[in-house]
Order: sequence, then structure tokens, then C-alpha cells
Amino acid sequence: MHIFILVLICGLIYLQSASAATAEQWRGRSIYQIITDRYALPAGSNSNVCDPGDQTWCGGTWNSIRENLDYIQNAGFTAIWISPVSQNYEGPRTPYGDAYHGYWIADVSKLNDRFGTSDDLKGLSDELHRRGMYLMVDVVVNNVMALSTTPDFTSYLFKDPTQYHPYCSIQWGNVTSEQNCWLGDTNVTLPDVNTQDGTVQASYGLWIQSLVQTYNIDGLRIDGTHVNTDFWPVFCENAGVFCIGEVFGSDMDQAASYQGPQALDSILHYPMYGALTNAFAIPGPQNMSAMVDVITQSKRKFVDPGLLGNFVENQDLPRWANLSVDIQSLWNVMTFNFMFDGIPIVYYGQEQGFSGNADPWNREPLWPSNYANTSTYALISTLNQAGGPPLLRNFLGSSSNWLKSETQILTATTKGIALSKGNVITVLTNIGSPVRHLQILTCTQFIVGSNGTIEMQYSKGGAAAVFVPSTALNGSGLCGFPGSNQTKSARSSVSSHGTRIYTNGIYTYSLAASVVLFWLDSCKVE
Ligand SMILES: *[C@@H]1O[C@H](CO)[C@@H](O)[C@H](O)[C@H]1NC(C)=O
Ligand SMILES: *[C@@H]1O[C@H](CO)[C@@H](O)[C@H](O)[C@H]1NC(C)=O
Ligand SMILES: *[C@@H]1O[C@H](CO)[C@@H](O)[C@H](O)[C@H]1NC(C)=O
Ligand SMILES: *[C@@H]1O[C@H](CO)[C@@H](O)[C@H](O)[C@H]1NC(C)=O
Ligand SMILES: *[C@@H]1O[C@H](CO)[C@@H](O)[C@H](O)[C@H]1NC(C)=O
Ligand SMILES: *[C@@H]1O[C@H](CO)[C@@H](O)[C@H](O)[C@H]1NC(C)=O
Ligand SMILES: *[C@@H]1O[C@H](CO)[C@@H](O)[C@H](O)[C@H]1NC(C)=O
Ligand SMILES: *[C@@H]1O[C@H](CO)[C@@H](O)[C@H](O)[C@H]1NC(C)=O
Repeated sequence: MHIFILVLICGLIYLQSASAATAEQWRGRSIYQIITDRYALPAGSNSNVCDPGDQTWCGGTWNSIRENLDYIQNAGFTAIWISPVSQNYEGPRTPYGDAYHGYWIADVSKLNDRFGTSDDLKGLSDELHRRGMYLMVDVVVNNVMALSTTPDFTSYLFKDPTQYHPYCSIQWGNVTSEQNCWLGDTNVTLPDVNTQDGTVQASYGLWIQSLVQTYNIDGLRIDGTHVNTDFWPVFCENAGVFCIGEVFGSDMDQAASYQGPQALDSILHYPMYGALTNAFAIPGPQNMSAMVDVITQSKRKFVDPGLLGNFVENQDLPRWANLSVDIQSLWNVMTFNFMFDGIPIVYYGQEQGFSGNADPWNREPLWPSNYANTSTYALISTLNQAGGPPLLRNFLGSSSNWLKSETQILTATTKGIALSKGNVITVLTNIGSPVRHLQILTCTQFIVGSNGTIEMQYSKGGAAAVFVPSTALNGSGLCGFPGSNQTKSARSSVSSHGTRIYTNGIYTYSLAASVVLFWLDSCKVE
């Protein structure tokens, strides 16, 4: 049995940062990442066969995503990111299987008809917008795919071999090599497009402008951004939408150099991913000071940490459950991603506890899960607050400068960390615990002590906790508080140590210096 006590000093901190309009519209979104081939089958297809080890197509399409958006929207997500839509390699099977994932680009300017027609992609985009959701499309610009180091490019967008860098194998850590040499190996080469070339830049510019406009795309996720950085501002200006890039690796200075007017709006926060695994995975080094270090550096080095993409899984990484045996650790890191600065991203299947290792085992089909309402799914719904508008993130954002306020570390020990963002306090621990029954949202009210502290004691497990001042919850529809339009809340099962008064159909609380706790509680069960 672990005993762990954290004492928090409660206070309000607001900091501001500025950025462009389209990025601004993404700041409060939460993203569900999809591999098109693996998310859903068209109605009526055989739903049994899809072994990720076969590395071949399983049948998901843009239409089947559109037909199954309720599952994503009901969890409160306000955007999806789909795998690349461009035409891929279509030759004989390679030693690494087929191009089911969409990253093996042949002609980037054509659609991949494996996943549907132009009208199907428009239909998906329209349906997302009808629901008030955004569409983010993955694009691969750095490279194409081939089977040799001297391929025939005649069926590609760039047909002239001089529009590619000459073959060499990447030496990581050597920037010139990273920018100009080829990913892949000699079985499947990934010829490196010469993005310094003027005709290449112009063609890419025309293509991305047309793609974004034709399909009404709201944002781009950019694969492999290790090209000459001055390529990106022009590319993204042509796109005219938010760009978030993949910069693989934990080097903070390198990562930070990719965010800003000289590069991209945002990147995926790989250094933070490394810190989360270091601090929370069980078993693992459980190094909380590494986490503190990355948070501190991240705040100092990135132009705008509030736009970075926070994740713990994706198509290239082992599932969290393959790294950590304790689901409590998953709930802690997910709570971090939703409550910390930045845009939370959840990789499809994470909510279903999928546990495959790296590629291809982390690309499981989602349908065998029956899209169940799991504990993790319910946790996500709470963090997004899918019970109707407003979302927790958007609600906090609209009622204060919550989204733009920078997270501060209140206190940290080897076992836990307490953070404040705006007027919200998040307490996370790496204690872990065997979980029996999970109660996601208890809405227990905590009273702040006269000296301005709350004391937390862990005796039977390390659940994540998010504290919101009750003064900030009016209009949220959470924890018995009325929603923005409601005179009376639908929720009645609020347990409170404070005073609750029922007047004229409106729930109110005694507001004296109290905070409300969302408590992921495994402690009640013994
Ligand atoms: C190419 O694929 C074969 C068969 O899977 C494998 O044995 C070999 O190691 C691969 N070559 C390289 C350079 O990775
Ligand atoms: C870095 O890579 C480039 C391109 O491959 C190469 O020409 C150069 O010699 C490398 N530098 C070092 C220090 O290895
Ligand atoms: C924990 O991380 C810090 C900062 O990154 C590092 O200096 C320290 O050596 C690590 N401790 C352990 C036990 O790995
Ligand atoms: C990790 O992934 C590998 C390959 O998919 C699998 O064999 C193993 O059982 C997984 N481990 C866990 C803990 O799920
Ligand atoms: C999922 O289950 C929880 C209770 O465990 C419930 O509150 C929630 O409404 C469910 N979500 C959906 C989309 O059915
Ligand atoms: C504040 O009060 C709590 C009890 O409410 C006590 O445990 C704690 O030591 C006090 N902290 C300070 C800094 O006085
Ligand atoms: C909650 O908000 C409503 C509408 O803005 C307001 O009339 C009411 O007084 C507020 N209640 C509390 C307790 O602040
Ligand atoms: C809240 O009110 C707005 C405007 O009156 C309306 O469009 C919306 O549907 C209402 N939401 C709920 C949950 O009733």
C-alpha cells in the first residue's frame, strides 16, 4: 500500500500568447486519429478477417468513416485526422506488405481510389462540417515510395530524377543527411523529394491549395517534416490552414525549431511523449523529474506550446498498453494530454485498450471492439464533456482564457505532479493500481483549507484528479451545475461535502473558496 500526499497551493494564473487565425481555431479542438483502412468496414462486409500481421488492406473507406462518426462525436471529439488520401504504390506485394496505411505515395496529386472517390471524400468532409467538426488530412511531402534506389518515376507527380535527391541512407543526427537522404531501406526505398527545387515547390504549392480547397480541409498533419525548414511557410501559406508536423525524436531544441513563422504552426510533441513514458509507464523508470524538465523546457523553448499536439499513441509507436501494464497509468497520461497546454490527440483504438506493439501490430482493426463504451471511452467523454455543449475544454476556454493560459507546475515529487492551467488544477501520479470497478466522474466537492491548500492522500491507488472551482462551473452542465441553456441539470447524483441549495429550479452551490473534484476513483472498491 502506498501513501502519497500532495499539498497544493491554489491560485489563478493567466498568461497570453498570440498566433494566426486558423491555428487559433484549432487551439480548443480535440483530435481523433484514424487509419482509414482500419477504422470501420462498409455496412455488410465480412467483419472477421483483418490480421494486422498480414500488412494488407482490410476494407475501411472514407464512406465507412462517415457512416460511423457518431462514435467519435459521442466521445466529444471535435476533429478527426485521417491517414493520407493520395495515390499509393500499387505493384506486387513488398517484403513489408501492401500500402494499406496510405504512406507509400506514388502520385501525390491523385486520390487513392482504394479508399473511395472524390465525392466520397467530399461527403466525409461535408458530414464533419455539418456536425461542427474539423477534417485534418495527413500529407506526405518529404518522400515518395519505390522498390529500388534507381526507380522509374514516370507515373509519379515528379517524373524527372533531378526532382529527387540522389540516393543515400539517412544518418540520424546529421541535419544535411536527414534533409536530403532517403528514408526506408533497399527493399522499400522512400526517394527523397528535392524540396529545394523551384519547380517542386511550385507544384507542391498548387497541389496543396487545390486539395485543401476541393475537399474543404481544415488542417494538415505533415509526415516527416525533416526537409529544408524554409519550405514550410510557403507550403502552409498555399494550404491556408493549420499545419501540424511530425518531428520524430526527443531533442527539444530541434523540435522547437520547427514551430514558428520560419517553419510550422505546430508539431506533434514527441519530447513530451518521451517524458510521459519516462514518468508514468509501469514498469518504467518512473522518472517524474524528467517530466518536470520537459515541461519547463517546453514552456521556454516553443513559441506557442498551446498549439502543440499531445499524444501517447500513433501509427508508429507501440500502444500505451504494450508499454505499461497498468491502465491507471493510461488514464493519468490521457488526463495530462487533455488538461495540459496543447491539442489532445487520441489514436483510434486507444480507447479500446488495444495493446499491439510497433508497426504493423499497432494498426489493429477497430471493428472487433464493437465500438464499446469502455471506461477509457467514458473518461475521454468526460475530458471532452460530450454531454452536450459546451465541451469542458471549450467551456473553460470560453469562460476564461483557459486555453491560452500556460500551465504552471505547482508541485512535483517522485510519485506525482500537480499542474495549474488557468483556474484548473490537475493532479497526476504514477502510483498506478489494480483497478476493479471504475467510477469516472464523482464530482466530489473539496473545500479549500483556510491557508489556501487542498491536501490529497492516496492510500489505495493513483487516480488522476482534475479540480475546477465551482465558481467556474456555472453554465457547464457538469456535476449538477446547469448547462448554458438549462434551468435545471440532468445530473443529480452529485456527492458533495459542501452545501447545495435548490432554488427556483436552479442548482447553486455555496461558493466559498471551494473546488469541485472530478475523481477517477478506484479507491472506493476494496
Ligand atoms: C529485405 O527484406 C528481406 C525479407 O523480408 C529481409 O530479409 C531483409 O533483411 C530486408 N533487407 C533490408 C535491407 O532491410
Ligand atoms: C552529413 O551528411 C551529408 C549528406 O549525406 C554528408 O555529405 C556529410 O559528410 C555528413 N557529415 C558528417 C559530419 O558526417
Ligand atoms: C531522470 O531524469 C533526469 C532529467 O532528465 C535525469 O537527469 C536523471 O538522471 C533521471 N533519473 C533516472 C533515475 O533515470
Ligand atoms: C505487445 O505487442 C506484441 C506484438 O503485438 C504482443 O505479442 C505482446 O503480447 C504485447 N504486449 C502486451 C503487454 O500486450
Ligand atoms: C458510456 O457509459 C457511461 C457510463 O459508464 C455513460 O455515462 C455514457 O453516457 C456512455 N456514453 C455513451 C456514448 O453511450
Ligand atoms: C494548510 O492546512 C492544511 C490542513 O488544512 C495543513 O495540513 C497544511 O500543513 C497547511 N499548510 C501550510 C503551508 O500551512
Ligand atoms: C449562473 O449563471 C446564471 C446565468 O448566467 C446566473 O443567472 C446565475 O446567477 C449564476 N449562478 C451562480 C451561482 O453564479
Ligand atoms: C442552447 O441554445 C441555443 C440557442 O438558443 C440552441 O441553438 C441550442 O440548441 C441549445 N442547446 C441545448 C443543449 O439545448
